[in-house]
This record gives sequence, structure tokens and C-alpha cells, in this order.
Amino acid sequence: MRVLVVGGGGREHAIVDACARAGHEVLCTPGNPGIKRQARVLASPGDPASLADLAAREGAEVVIVGPEAELAAGLVDACRERGVPAFGPTRAAARLEGDKAWSKAFMLRHGIPTAAHRSFGEVGEALAYAARHPLPLVVKDAGLRAGKGVTIARTRGEARAALRDIFSQEDAQAVLEEFMTGQEVTVLALTDGERYALTPPSQDHKTIFEGDVGPMTGGMGVICPFPLAGDDLARIRAEIVEPALAGMCAEGHPFTGVLYAGLMLTPGGPKVVEFNARFGDPEAEAVLPLLDSDLARHALDAARGHLDPGTVRFRGGASAVVVLAAPGYPGEPKRGLPLGLPEPGPGEMIYHAGTAEQGGRLVSGGGRVLAVTATAPALNAALGRAYALAERVDFPGAQFRRDLGARIGAWPEPHPV
Ligand code: GLY
Repeated sequence: MRVLVVGGGGREHAIVDACARAGHEVLCTPGNPGIKRQARVLASPGDPASLADLAAREGAEVVIVGPEAELAAGLVDACRERGVPAFGPTRAAARLEGDKAWSKAFMLRHGIPTAAHRSFGEVGEALAYAARHPLPLVVKDAGLRAGKGVTIARTRGEARAALRDIFSQEDAQAVLEEFMTGQEVTVLALTDGERYALTPPSQDHKTIFEGDVGPMTGGMGVICPFPLAGDDLARIRAEIVEPALAGMCAEGHPFTGVLYAGLMLTPGGPKVVEFNARFGDPEAEAVLPLLDSDLARHALDAARGHLDPGTVRFRGGASAVVVLAAPGYPGEPKRGLPLGLPEPGPGEMIYHAGTAEQGGRLVSGGGRVLAVTATAPALNAALGRAYALAERVDFPGAQFRRDLGARIGAWPEPHPV
């Protein structure tokens, strides 16, 4: 099958890798230096209509859309108008991620458990509410901010600064939420709008520093599977995934693609931290290497409205992803730093997230630069292999967290690399 993957980060590299592994001809736009070793890379024409024209012109049999921005801009709608099957939600359904105020209201309408919240379209009211709400307080930009629109404010000053930052943009909206405690877990549902298959649960590490402190990032590393206990999985299906899919159908916007449920396992049961409308990044780099069936086939089946969940299979074992970020990230990442990559062994992969080429050399080109992945029969072995591979990457000043998995006791101590 000829598959067009849209995007150019680590998530899209993992999608390209999964499709190439299944023997498909893979095209990718705009791709990146790592992706171009596995796919024919095409320059991005930019807007959704031109991207959909490109897909039609290239004879793509299915388009897999990676990033949220293209979904929110209506790329899936544009592909459908041209008769090209596309895996991802329509613009209306992608609102589940693109408009966090709407998304919270949707959860309330459908009885989906989530943190208590208030939404604000005006800075003064938001500041007044933040001044009296117990701390910590979660401050979210209601719009898309590439995973960086969330602040866990532990002081009034941090809450004020986050709100001022949000409202420095035009037409801004903020969501203020209670802080939930517990283990965080990501569950991804591949869906045709009604039927769905879950990937193994995973755990991302969102702050830049070890010990879960410092500013939020897009994600600094993942362990998979996250060991869910008791009836958590059954509750996640029955109380979160199924009402969300049914609610989107009932409201006239069936959700096709990957429903990302970012959850907190609270003492009162699983609650939604956020819904996203696509594969997580770097969760995709952990989950897709464990996929034992054909991603492109599932994408086409889902896009055509007849996904067979029984055909979605994952092999046993575990995976770990160590993200290597550029110095300065998540502020101003240093670009143009030379990178030297080792050759990964079997069950290992170095996904390119923010790399570029300069004068024939591979250099850093973004904040999160590489997602170093390893699979193994058990989680601690996967972590050990991923860290050992990350240590062999030549990347001066790279930042990475050495405590992945420590939250669930995968290491007795933070990993001593
Ligand atoms: N890793 C978090 C996200 O993809 O939104």
C-alpha cells in the first residue's frame, strides 16, 4: 500500500517506521533527516487543501496525520473531500484537543471523570479566581501550545505569570483546574468512531527535570506498558473511552483516528487530565515498536469506518524511550549542535524528533532532538538498553532525565547512568 505520513517529528518517524516494517511504500511530508532513510520525503505545500492535493496526486491509499495543528486546520476533511482516506479526526472532532475549554465542557456533558475546573476568556476574572483557589493550581492555555501550555502553579506568582503569558495572545482562553495526585498514564485508542482498540498503557515524563520538577515539556521519556492494577483498565474503557467516543457520535462529530486519553489514577479512580486527538509524542515512539500488526491497514480500515479491533495486536515485552533534548529546552533550544549517532542494535531505534542537516552534517534543529528507544522482554531491561544507547549518542550538552520508570519502582534508585 502507498501511505502518506504527514509530520516531521519523532512521532511521525515512529509511524513511518511501523508502516515501513509492515512492507508498505511510505511517503512523508515534510519528514526529517531520519525519516528520509525510510520514506520518500516530500516538501510540505503547507495548507490543508494543498496537502490533500499532494496526497491525491501521489496516489496515497491512506494518509496518516501526525500533528494536532494539521488536524485542527482540517486536513482530514480536505482529504475526504478529494476521496483520499485519512486517519485522524475531522476539524470538528479535533476540537477535543484544540479547544480545552470545549473539551472540559464535553466531559461534563457526558459524565466523564476529570479535574474540577473553570474556564476564563478574560484575564482579570482569571487572576481573581487564581488568587483565591488552593495551591497548587493547574493553569492551561485552552488552545494548542505543543504540550507547553500547561503550568502547575505552586505559588500565586507562578499562577499570575502563567495567566499573563496566556492572555498576552489574542482571543486567549484559560482553563484553571484543581491539581490531581496519583500516577499519570496515557491510553491511546485507535478508532473508527465506534469500534476501538487500545494500545498498551504508557507513562510519559512531562517536566524537564528529574523528580518531576521544572517547566513542562512535550514529554521527556516514556515507559510502556505502565502496569495498571485491579479494575483500572475496565474503568478506563467504561468510564472514559467509551463515553467519549459515544459522546462525539451523539454530538454529530464521530472521532476517527487516535484518541489520546491522558489520565490520572487518583484515589477515586481514573480521571482525564486531557484528551488529545493524535498519537502522543513520545508515547508513539514507545508503543509502535511493540505493535505486531499492520498500522497502515488499521489506519485505512478506521478511515473507511470498519476497524476490526481483533486485528490490532501487540507483542509482549516492554519498551522505554529516552528523549535527548537540546540545551536551553523548553526555553530557547540551541540549534546547529553536531550530532553523532551510534548504529542501533536489534530492538533499538533512534527516532529523529528535532534534527536538521547543515553542510552534510546532522545537527540539532529543535527542542526535543532524538527519541532513543529500546524494547526488551521486561521494563528494566528495556530501560537499561535505552539508557546505554543514549549514552553512546554524541550530542554535546544534551539534556535527558535519568529517572524514567522510578515513579513505578522500575529502578530501586534513579538509574545511575
Ligand atoms: N506526550 C504528550 C503529548 O503527546 O501530548
